[in-house]
Amino acid sequence: MFNLVLFGPPGSGKGTQSEKIVSTYKLEHISTGDLLRNEVSRQTPLGTEAKKYMDQGMLVPDEVVIGMISGRIDESPHSRGFIFDGFPRTRPQAEALDKLLDFKNTKIHLVLMLDVPEPNLIKRLLGRGETSGRSDDNEEIITKRIKEYNAKTQPVASYYHEHGKLEKVTGDHSVEDTFKTLTKHINKYLLPVT
Ligand code: AP5
Ligand code: MG
Repeated sequence: MFNLVLFGPPGSGKGTQSEKIVSTYKLEHISTGDLLRNEVSRQTPLGTEAKKYMDQGMLVPDEVVIGMISGRIDESPHSRGFIFDGFPRTRPQAEALDKLLDFKNTKIHLVLMLDVPEPNLIKRLLGRGETSGRSDDNEEIITKRIKEYNAKTQPVASYYHEHGKLEKVTGDHSVEDTFKTLTKHINKYLLPVT
């Protein structure tokens, strides 16, 4: 089993690159943003609670997200591995994920961090907002999300660096070039499924 965390600020391309990685390496994609948006659209109690935070560009509380992840991992017991997109976003989430995987006799093998300058992030997210139907489509919420990332999520990079798992990758080249760089790192652990 190979487990990868795709890390980086909002708009750095985690969702875009996850799709390509999933189809090349046949990993299970776990995106907490997608899981939460699904709960919101079904108007579940979890979704209704999460929406209050998401609409303001704030992180959803750790216990909500951690509970959701645990259930999702159990749904795919025979997978080649997981790609975590948008999770963990806080140090407690990172610690909880390590415990959860340890319990399943596996671990995070690699963390790839997409590095993109802030003005480009804002430009990309405003562009996506024109068609996505997501609530984070205006500059005020986008700036708030980036602040939240710098305050609460950025420290997760140090956590993985301390564990010798973090690799930084330039994320503001083209989608294809960025993907090529990511594959160079992943291929050290897992070969593409042809
Ligand atoms: P979530 O949906 O996880 O947001 P995110 O994935 O961090 O950020 P984005 O989706 O905004 O960016 P991305 O990096 O995936 O970029 P993308 O590929 O789309 O979270 C939403 C909310 O849910 C959070 O604010 C929070 O409230 C809550 N939440 C989720 N997980 C949580 C957690 N673990 N804990 C607590 N709360 C949580 O690309 C962006 C745009 O750029 C696209 O238009 C794309 O086409 C374009 N693009 C991508 N790559 C390139 C490139 N190389 N060149 C040019 N354009 C590019
Ligand atoms: Mg995303």
